[in-house]
Amino acid sequence: MTLIGRVALYHGLLSQKLEGATILVPNYHEGVEIDTLLAAGCKLVYYSVTDDLRIDLDDVEQRLQDAKVLYVIHYFGYPQPMDEIMAFCKKHDLKVIEDCALALFSRDTGGWLGRYGDIAIFSVHKTCPTPGLGFLRSNQPVKLDGLVPVSSKTTLIQSVALFRRSIRASSLAGIERGLMALRRWISRTTSVDIHEDLNPEKGQWDPRMSKLAPSKWAYYLMRFINPNRIIARRRENFERLADGLRGFADLPVDRLPDGMCPLFLPILVERKLEVQKRLGELGVESINFWSRIHSSCPPDLGNELSTWRQQCLALGVHQNLNRRAIDRQAAIVRQVLSEFSEGNSVVQNGLD
Ligand SMILES: Cc1ncc(COP(=O)(O)O)c(C=O)c1O
Repeated sequence: MTLIGRVALYHGLLSQKLEGATILVPNYHEGVEIDTLLAAGCKLVYYSVTDDLRIDLDDVEQRLQDAKVLYVIHYFGYPQPMDEIMAFCKKHDLKVIEDCALALFSRDTGGWLGRYGDIAIFSVHKTCPTPGLGFLRSNQPVKLDGLVPVSSKTTLIQSVALFRRSIRASSLAGIERGLMALRRWISRTTSVDIHEDLNPEKGQWDPRMSKLAPSKWAYYLMRFINPNRIIARRRENFERLADGLRGFADLPVDRLPDGMCPLFLPILVERKLEVQKRLGELGVESINFWSRIHSSCPPDLGNELSTWRQQCLALGVHQNLNRRAIDRQAAIVRQVLSEFSEGNSVVQNGLD
């Protein structure tokens, strides 16, 4: 277990002696995983993923150069075709890093994702209610001893973020505003400076993290996690939300393969920031998903996924949402999309 997913990646790279190695990475990325690879001195060669977010192995083959490693992301929990990828990597003598940050508890036909790679990393806190927590699986011994437990300040910052996420997931916007006020109060009245103290919630690599172990509190909370319940609830919520939006929203990947544990339901919308703002006003939280191309990615390659970057909003299918909350979410998304498709002087008034 590690403080957070990116720390798992960092130690995984060290365990495989991959500092400085050339790594093939996808042109659709969050950015923090790329920062972590760069922090370990890796050289990056970008490859294309297709419009349905599957790795394009023909493209990878054109770019092999002196690469030692293929970095694979399972987007939203959707399994990449790992048998094909492993055969390809065997042929070209590549190691595999499986990024399961978005795919905890997801399976393909043969079993859990994360079992293929020389290393696999997980970001437990994205799926489970824990303040931080990452997980590393490696086929080499990993030295995680000597890590210092994370400070209570950092755990406090992570816990407030966790409560905020849970509240947002339940669409209780008023309480969320209260938590924001609490966050400001903590900053003002204690020695916790949310901007200066180590804040794993920021989407950045911070070298101090690599020396820290997760809090005991996060381990403790893991005891109450029931993966089967999480998988079942998330799958049901995903299907119910997709059913409620089919015909109204562009659902780029609405099929749910057997065994998959979805992190979000992605939708593609024009004017996504305005739509996101309007949804927020009506109490529906969405994530402006991965709009940034990392500065190390050649713009032409990054722009291949411009529709995803410009239009993807991720909607919550969190296990704590019940059927009523999902139906309410679907109804509000339908309402907002119809406001926007009507040319919407009304919407503009509402937003200003
Ligand atoms: C694809 C991917 N990999 C790795 C990470 C890092 O995970 P963490 O935030 O737990 O460090 C993220 C975080 O958003 C991610 O989206």
